[in-house]
Amino acid sequence: MSIGLFDSGVGGLSVARALVRRLPQAEFLYLADQAHAPYGGRPGEEVVDLTRAAVTRLFSAGADLVVQACNTASAIAQRRQQQTWLQDYARAIGRPVNILGIIVPTIEAATGMGWTQHADPAAQARPDVLGVFATRGTVQSRVYEIEIAKRRPDITVCGQPCPDLVPMIEGGTSLADLAVAVQGYVAEMIARIGRAPDRAILGCTHYEIIAGLFRDALPPGTPLIHQPAATAEALTGYLARHSEFNIGNSGSRRFWTTGEPGPQNAMVQAFWGAPLSFEPAQ
Ligand code: DGL
Repeated sequence: MSIGLFDSGVGGLSVARALVRRLPQAEFLYLADQAHAPYGGRPGEEVVDLTRAAVTRLFSAGADLVVQACNTASAIAQRRQQQTWLQDYARAIGRPVNILGIIVPTIEAATGMGWTQHADPAAQARPDVLGVFATRGTVQSRVYEIEIAKRRPDITVCGQPCPDLVPMIEGGTSLADLAVAVQGYVAEMIARIGRAPDRAILGCTHYEIIAGLFRDALPPGTPLIHQPAATAEALTGYLARHSEFNIGNSGSRRFWTTGEPGPQNAMVQAFWGAPLSFEPAQ
């Protein structure tokens, strides 16, 4: 009787904030797997196992739907989960459950096309370079390149790993130090493309917390595709089509961590807009 949200750490709060605003009556349970963060540099099999453990924990706590608010987990584990165990698991617990990732809504927002639409060969090609800032795991999965190429071959995707950012955000590093790191990653991407990207995806939910630093480091006016807004839009549409999922109506919010319980760092609390403390995951 709730919507579960899962991320390796605090990044998924960017998605949670958008969902809470969109669905104020729904009940939310947020799980941060901070004991194992960051996921971005872990081998794929570990990410699959950790993701499955987290999702199962949320279902056991009563979530009907789990929003995987983590690109790395979605890129590496989403399809495997859907194909190999989710249906059997739902049958075993005797109620409908599902896992929604955040990459599909992001790609729909980036291409302007629904997930089931595919490239129109007659469409006019217009050069469009889309930068994707993400973890190493997400960039190596090439999920954005592959899925965007199926729909909009006129878009060139350039993935830029930013491996230092998740530990820095989790650790509450100063904005000044984060700005230097972001400038470095943007400069690396620009050097590789030979010019600035036309648009960019912040392809790690943590980066939304410091979206302003990306805006400052990119040429003024570079459009950013925001995953939280795209995910909130997609979830609202999904719920309208699937009344079998019970998302509760008390408006309750719980925050669990597998790591150190307690208040989250000042930058994260400022982003959330209210004091925020995580409880031990049950
Ligand atoms: N927020 C996660 C993502 O969107 C971070 C993954 C990590 O822990 O490296 O990919």
